[in-house]
Amino acid sequence: MNEEQRLQSGLVKSTAAAEKDYSKYFETVYTPPSLKNAKKRGKEEIAYHDDFQIEERFLGMGNGRKFYIRTYGCQMNEHDTEVMAGIFTSLGYESTNTVDDADVVLLNTCAIRENAENKVFGELGHLKPLKLERPDMLIGVCGCMSQEESVVKKILQTYDQVDMIFGTHNIHRLPNILHEAYMSKEMVVEVWSKEGDIIENLPKVRHGNIKAWVNIMYGCDKFCTYCIVPYTRGKERSRRPQDIIQEVRQLAANGYKEIMLLGQNVNAYGKDFEDLDYRLGDLMDDLRKINIPRIRFTTSHPRDFDDHLIEVLAKGGNLLDHIHLPVQSGSSDILKIMARKYSREQYLQLVGKIKKAIPNVTLTTDIIVGFPNETDEQFEETLSLYKEVGFEMAYTYIYSPREGTPAAKMVDNISMEVKKERLQRLNKLVNEMSAEAMKPYKGTVVKVLVEGESKRNPEVLAGYTEKNKLVNFRAPRSVIGEIVNVKITEAKTWSLDGEFIGVVEEDKVMS
Ligand code: 5AD
Ligand code: SF4
Repeated sequence: MNEEQRLQSGLVKSTAAAEKDYSKYFETVYTPPSLKNAKKRGKEEIAYHDDFQIEERFLGMGNGRKFYIRTYGCQMNEHDTEVMAGIFTSLGYESTNTVDDADVVLLNTCAIRENAENKVFGELGHLKPLKLERPDMLIGVCGCMSQEESVVKKILQTYDQVDMIFGTHNIHRLPNILHEAYMSKEMVVEVWSKEGDIIENLPKVRHGNIKAWVNIMYGCDKFCTYCIVPYTRGKERSRRPQDIIQEVRQLAANGYKEIMLLGQNVNAYGKDFEDLDYRLGDLMDDLRKINIPRIRFTTSHPRDFDDHLIEVLAKGGNLLDHIHLPVQSGSSDILKIMARKYSREQYLQLVGKIKKAIPNVTLTTDIIVGFPNETDEQFEETLSLYKEVGFEMAYTYIYSPREGTPAAKMVDNISMEVKKERLQRLNKLVNEMSAEAMKPYKGTVVKVLVEGESKRNPEVLAGYTEKNKLVNFRAPRSVIGEIVNVKITEAKTWSLDGEFIGVVEEDKVMS
């Protein structure tokens, strides 16, 4: 994309601190979240590149300098951080795990709920004295919040300790953005409001060598009425199958044991291919043949969860029998105004199909309580659905209005007190059902991928079962990174304690 095309596509690129009239600045070059505009987005312009290179003039830019990235939000953001760490490292920077000796601090932000955003503004406040002490240090804000006009405006107006703001579509521009920030006294803002191309060969510094994240698609076209993601992450763009398969093969060859396939709505994988009839089921069917012990995916939208995918998942092997399937609400009326495009009955039908094909499946979910005007009866329907499905875990949230989304315009007559009470009631059920699901494990032997020391006790090792249950046990540190058999001695609400038996034989063969 050349400079002119970028400007046409809504690119914001400016050293903006000198601008006094911020509103004018935004009106002319920034497109705020708009359902109407976002829905108009076409499919034609996605191009795939595998020619990413650090420009020669930037090589060595980081020599003698350290970077620190604080990540908020989902696994997609964690993975973006790995890419940015890869770019920093290619530029010669070293990583550090404290802001105190960092020469560049990046906050990779999340916009999904208001409290996620408040944490970032709080952190920017904490960083101010450090910036005053060390004016040469660079502070950057990137990730989903940077894609919001109101956030960019607020930072420009009140957080002059920030040196650069860049969005989710232009991570690969990090070298240029850093360069500009070093050269300029003014805040560097580079946010592309339109999604970019798919760039395949960005460097990555992965977190650990046991589990790896692999993006399979970017963006979301579902436009649930409460959700900011379709605006901050742009339209759905799928990576080509051969690129994903190659990356997973390489990770397997490098000894990784578990892959988490990532996308905001992985079930829409492949819908955007014009030349290929290839969907998530086909991809999973190809990936299961790779010699890697565990493959998971997140996150699913029930609407696109098709029969072929269920059929492939039922083949088992390295495709694990745990599915995270966000339902959001148990009331068809609320689902309708959330624009989830399925009813309670349709969700239950899908669960029925999945359970029939994969009898031992573990299902987990996401739920929002206190959506505008949610009645007691509608909330009760969520509780009853939770029991009926038999979920084993849920991420639960109070609805948080996000500026620019359709739900933010809905008038709400439910008090925060009632919303909080509902969340508590739901969480109580979630805890009870988790404890119930844990009980039968007592006395059984499970396979655990050992990740390292337990967070609470360094003398104990911890890892996860195929169904993603946390297991703590004592064993030699040499088994970290291996899949081991553990006999469960105690079942708690959110974890299992057990006795180490030994390394799983097939795993030894595989690695
Ligand atoms: N308010 C509360 N929760 C939200 N989520 C997404 N948007 C909002 C919002 N505006 C939740 C959904 C989603 C999860 C990632 O975050 O449950 O599945
Ligand atoms: Fe947001 Fe998920 Fe709905 Fe997409 S499918 S709009 S990411 S909640």
